[in-house]
Amino acid sequence: MTDSRATFGADLHLDLSGPRLRAGLMGALRDAVRTGRLAPGTRLPSSRSLAADLGIARNTVADAYAELVAEGWLTARQGSGTRVAPRPAVRPPAPAPAAPTRSRPVRDRPAYSLMAGRPDVASFPRAAWLKAARRALAGVPDDAFGYGDPRGRVELRTALADYLARARGVHATPERILICSGFAHGLALMGRALARRGVRRAAVESYGLDIHWDLLTAAGLALSPLPFDATGTRPEPPGALHGAGAVLMTPAHQFPLGVPLSPTGRAAVVDWARRTGGLVLEDDYDGEFRYDRQPVGALQGLDPERVVYFGTASKSLAPGLRLAWMVLPEPVVGEVLDASGGEQRLTGVTDQLTLAEFLTSGAYDRHVRAMRLRYRRRRDDLVERLRRDAPHVRVSGIAAGLHAVLELPPGGEALALRAAAWHGLQVQGLSRFRHPSALPGGPEGLVVGYGTPSDSSWSGTLDTLCNVLRATA
Ligand SMILES: Cc1ncc(COP(=O)(O)O)c(C=O)c1O
Repeated sequence: MTDSRATFGADLHLDLSGPRLRAGLMGALRDAVRTGRLAPGTRLPSSRSLAADLGIARNTVADAYAELVAEGWLTARQGSGTRVAPRPAVRPPAPAPAAPTRSRPVRDRPAYSLMAGRPDVASFPRAAWLKAARRALAGVPDDAFGYGDPRGRVELRTALADYLARARGVHATPERILICSGFAHGLALMGRALARRGVRRAAVESYGLDIHWDLLTAAGLALSPLPFDATGTRPEPPGALHGAGAVLMTPAHQFPLGVPLSPTGRAAVVDWARRTGGLVLEDDYDGEFRYDRQPVGALQGLDPERVVYFGTASKSLAPGLRLAWMVLPEPVVGEVLDASGGEQRLTGVTDQLTLAEFLTSGAYDRHVRAMRLRYRRRRDDLVERLRRDAPHVRVSGIAAGLHAVLELPPGGEALALRAAAWHGLQVQGLSRFRHPSALPGGPEGLVVGYGTPSDSSWSGTLDTLCNVLRATA
């Protein structure tokens, strides 16, 4: 091995280049402790888990840990693992509303990440994906490598039609499916198609992602946020959808608040679309990950002629694949292709064929099942740790998905974000997901993406989160 790169969480990079792996690992760890990227008290991953992440021998890691303990950088105690040695405690700076002061410089790289919306990319099924790619490429005719159908490879559209019917209750035929380069790409195409239909306004949820709102705005649509309460998004009050020609929603698992759209809401929004000729844009970004009972089926099943279904591989596999799919009402397929000006051929054929093989061979189901189990364990860990170490925090939105909302008392969000920056934890506040025109009020908190850390950084990330939350108690 000549160049090995480990991450604690997504962002604390340990560069281990060259043959002297143990010396390289020790140097990288000393450097991380010296610069504060590994805070005192942080638990390091077990030697087994770090060795697996780095692809090196476990003994190399164990020896490096032992030497660093001897040098006083780390401590090792039976039952509490290997930790960064304590230094004199320094408290995070007191909150100062205008210009927060810091007792140490802002780090250029956070040590840990709980960013929402990301899966554990260290778990990407490399071997199974390679196997599927080999099989897929060996079996296709030469013409597969041409420009082909603008909707995407028929093998993938056929595999998705079967999978979506079985796993998500979606009514799909290969002819109605369009492969795109991520949900964001599909939404941009859809926005343009809506504008060409004469739609001027779209309703969105009060909470969501600004990048998605921006894509609709860029297509020329004005946006109005739907009412929201503790039961979730409320499309049903009279006038909520007034003037809209489309509505963008996350019905299975509201992003980021985590509640599913109520049965009344589901019926109301479909009824609205039927009455007015509007379209419901269903963002089913993490529908596969539901832990305590059967997944909530896709809204599209209620009316495939009025609901545009969007799915993505960004949570189930990896966002870097840039693979997603839309299931469209039949007349809308042509509208989206016309509006795209040929831009829809943005997804490479080899990845499409590989995903088709991955789906039909059962590898996708196996991967999702395995990840569901891991994420569920992490969620349970998170809930348990918070119950013990941060009982003032209310955890919600945990029935599904890869993130949870940690509700904080008034003023707690700003405090937590300031403490997170100090501790080198990358995390987002709930307020940043609120639409600027949403009604005032609403909870404060953190949106915690527990899928993001690698296994080796998970316990250190949890420790750091609890340290951060102490600032809000
Ligand atoms: C609400 C929501 N929708 C969709 C996506 C997927 O987007 P994409 O497929 O463009 O990666 C994400 C991923 O972060 C998301 O959080």
